[in-house]
Amino acid sequence: MTKITVNNQVINVDAAADTPLLWVLRDHLAMTGTKFGCGMALCGACTVHIDGVATRSCVLPLSALQGKSITTIEGLSKNRGHAVQKAWMEIDVPQCGYCQSGQIMSAAALLNSNPNPSDEDIDAAMSGNICRCGTYPRIRKAIHRAAELLKPGAQN
Ligand code: FES
Ligand code: FES
Repeated sequence: MTKITVNNQVINVDAAADTPLLWVLRDHLAMTGTKFGCGMALCGACTVHIDGVATRSCVLPLSALQGKSITTIEGLSKNRGHAVQKAWMEIDVPQCGYCQSGQIMSAAALLNSNPNPSDEDIDAAMSGNICRCGTYPRIRKAIHRAAELLKPGAQN
């Protein structure tokens, strides 16, 4: 058994120590919002936060997670109320949607560390999140909108 913390809940997981977090989430905890794309840390579909930092869960073994705080798309907010989620809905970012939970998690981590990112900052932070539908222009627009929504006193 490995004790991990997911979305502020302490959970005991009965899985081999080398099981990637992505499969712990999807197969053991039935949290399927985090997606499998490549399994090689190349596409970003599986992005979660580990201690607030955007991380590829497909290559992160369970053994590395003791004492860490994991946040998935399911735990980003209550009722889709995070500024990034609101901006995503307002701008209507997704097309097929498959990459989008990873995109949202990367965007939220970016705004945690840089509340007012430039286009260049956004492109650099999001470069590891691939979207086969090409929603990049809307992603960039939505991150700027989320930054506005996060400003103190913003009307949202
Ligand atoms: S599935 Fe993890 S980066 Fe592609
Ligand atoms: S919305 Fe289809 S892969 Fe990104």
